[in-house]
Amino acid sequence: MNPIRVGLLGLGTAGGGTYDILLRNREEIARRAGREIHVVAAAVRNLDKARARVGDAIRLGTDPQAVVDATDVEIVVELMGGIEPARSLILSAIRQGKHVVTANKALLALHGNEIFAEAQKQGVMVAFEAAVAGGIPIIKALREGLTANRIQWIAGIINGTSNFILTRMREAGASFAEALAEAQALGYAEADPTFDIEGIDAAHKLTIMAAIAFGMPMHFEQAYTEGISQLTADDIRYAEEFGYRIKLLGICRRTSEGVELRVHPTLIPQQQLIANVNGVMNAVLVRGDAVGSTLYYGAGAGAEPTGSSVVADLVDVTRMHTADPDHRVPHLAFQANRVTEVRVLPISAVRTSYYLRLRAVDRPGVLADVTRILAEQGISIEAMLQREPPQGEQQVDVVILTHRTVESALTAALERIEALDSIAGPVVRIRMEALAS
Ligand code: NDP
Ligand code: HSE
Repeated sequence: MNPIRVGLLGLGTAGGGTYDILLRNREEIARRAGREIHVVAAAVRNLDKARARVGDAIRLGTDPQAVVDATDVEIVVELMGGIEPARSLILSAIRQGKHVVTANKALLALHGNEIFAEAQKQGVMVAFEAAVAGGIPIIKALREGLTANRIQWIAGIINGTSNFILTRMREAGASFAEALAEAQALGYAEADPTFDIEGIDAAHKLTIMAAIAFGMPMHFEQAYTEGISQLTADDIRYAEEFGYRIKLLGICRRTSEGVELRVHPTLIPQQQLIANVNGVMNAVLVRGDAVGSTLYYGAGAGAEPTGSSVVADLVDVTRMHTADPDHRVPHLAFQANRVTEVRVLPISAVRTSYYLRLRAVDRPGVLADVTRILAEQGISIEAMLQREPPQGEQQVDVVILTHRTVESALTAALERIEALDSIAGPVVRIRMEALAS
């Protein structure tokens, strides 16, 4: 059988990794796919750099639309990143009846509803395994492996850069800026690292997973997003003293009132496997009603881990492109006409427990005031720690762990606590999750 022909939009970290794997494992991949997969053309900005990498083996140009339009390109692989021109190029490929593979989570989280609707209309596949958790086949697991389950919740370390930074801060005492610079040098960070450290990249990936898990449209704009840039070494240390690690988690949970969709630093018990996922590694914990908890672990970024997922999609498309579109795995796991709107809960309606750190004047009655306010808001305390004030200082750090409560009650309590003249500055609030059933 003739090889299937691929056009690459981008030959950077992900594109280069994809190209190298296709070349190195060509024979093994063909044995799995049923035919060889050949890259015939690629578009880049810097031709010299790309030529140095691939030589004369493929057609190279600077016009990605030319690759999309090329009559010998059957599958378009978008690995450029960004919203435009990636969105228009993908829509153009779909309208020409070409299948698409992409790793572009930002694009899918923002415009996935439009892209999948168009793909459905044209009967083509849009595959996106690499868009979530790099090399971990989590899309395959959620869409196919767990298809018997009603998914209850997902909690994931889905941004390698922020996990790398948190690990370096905890293990090596690196400053936030030093750890970020290291992650950038290693090619983990997005073009705009704000996306990594402020939780935006994780929210993109969470949006995609929630859509597949719950059969709902993409609602990135409703995701609550809080990053790690405000975390201090003190909070990391206090968390350890209580037996917790702080991780940037993406959490989606089905509740009787709606779906929680949130990314934020989270205290999780040290003994949980996922608490021990370090460096750039990612892990996704999925709770299904039939299977219970399952954990998926692996490299969340980097050239070949990302390429591994892109090539897996290429093999899927190669195997399935002649199948009747109605008999392929639906893009979002649920049949397109059964994807339904679900209420996304505002963060004020989320129920969880909390780590609180406050600076309090060291005098009688201060803690009584704080605990009274918490009690009046119906918030129960699980543990509390107060340090001796350093020599000559009047203020002490007080750390409180609460039981589960609704966030609006906690916010109301914190407003009252911060108004006390015995409390200095804002109270640090970090959400906690047991990640139990
Ligand atoms: P890079 O910046 O490394 O590569 C981007 C590639 O696209 C480069 O080859 C660049 O050309 C080319 N390119 C960009 N814009 C244009 C344009 N207008 N015309 C022609 N070529 C263009 O990005 P990554 O490989 O890191 O990321 C690509 C995508 O994969 C993103 O959506 C990212 O979020 C996603 N992803 C990345 C992962 C990673 O570990 N890096 C992991 C998972 C997903 P040139 O080289 O000449 O500048
Ligand atoms: N910047 C992303 C990360 C790349 O750090 O996880 C993989 O999506």
